[in-house]
Amino acid sequence: MKKRIPQMETAHSSTPDDIAILPRRPEFDFSGVGKYWLKDPFTSQFMNAVSIVVPHSERTVIDIVRKYADNISDPKLLRDMDALIRQEGRHTLMHLRCNDLLKKCGYPAIRPFERFHQFFVGILRRISPPAWELAMPAAFEHFTSAISRDFIVNHTFWTGDQSNAAIDFTNWHALEELEHQAVCFDVFAALERRTWLLTLSLFFIWMPAMLVSVYGMQFYFLLKDGILLKRKNWGSYLKFIFQSLPMLTRGALKYVDKGFRPWNPKDVQIYQAQKRKIQHVIS
Ligand SMILES: [Fe+2]
Ligand SMILES: [Fe+2]
Repeated sequence: MKKRIPQMETAHSSTPDDIAILPRRPEFDFSGVGKYWLKDPFTSQFMNAVSIVVPHSERTVIDIVRKYADNISDPKLLRDMDALIRQEGRHTLMHLRCNDLLKKCGYPAIRPFERFHQFFVGILRRISPPAWELAMPAAFEHFTSAISRDFIVNHTFWTGDQSNAAIDFTNWHALEELEHQAVCFDVFAALERRTWLLTLSLFFIWMPAMLVSVYGMQFYFLLKDGILLKRKNWGSYLKFIFQSLPMLTRGALKYVDKGFRPWNPKDVQIYQAQKRKIQHVIS
């Protein structure tokens, strides 16, 4: 049955005027980067697990944003949407390259997991009314911007102050996730007044799905590596879970506030500082 598409409404982009969403095309050579490219196996395998869910999730974001573009009238928001699509397309390509390298490290469960992820998202899209389908990209962007902000602000926690091509790549992806953090929310808010639906979909669908997927894959990687077979590592693993969990769980209630807007002054500062810091990567 054909879904009812929301009526066109005039809406406004909430991306600040001095933030330009730029599709960049940096290249990264991952050939010398091992699977533990962050501070330790726990941080590395967490981000590797995130990387596994990124390609299909970002393709879904692109697909849904494109699908509803004809219903948006604000020229600035339309430009933001076009730039987001270009950025996400590049992110997807680079994550696929990383994931191919990870598969070569010997994790046979990755492919069945990817197939299940695609099946799960596909089924939900088919049965969702437009408001719930529109919530999908906004929910996904909620997580990517939260992880990106944390990676930038708590850089030492993640990287242990190392540097390599995968860290440069993550710094670039994190910058662009902050840059386009408002776009999917703006599209949702332009076509659906009930922004509290975002909180519902986050709490009951996407947050459980994200936690099970990412922590589940991280657990599998660490088990396969033998890290979790050693009792002396259990404390560090649990410490990582408790330290990283708030990053994924906080902030979902913000959509209940009718006046919620995605950017705040602190975000602008974090974004500008990151842009200066990684100028050598993005120029
Ligand atoms: Fe992305
Ligand atoms: Fe994104």
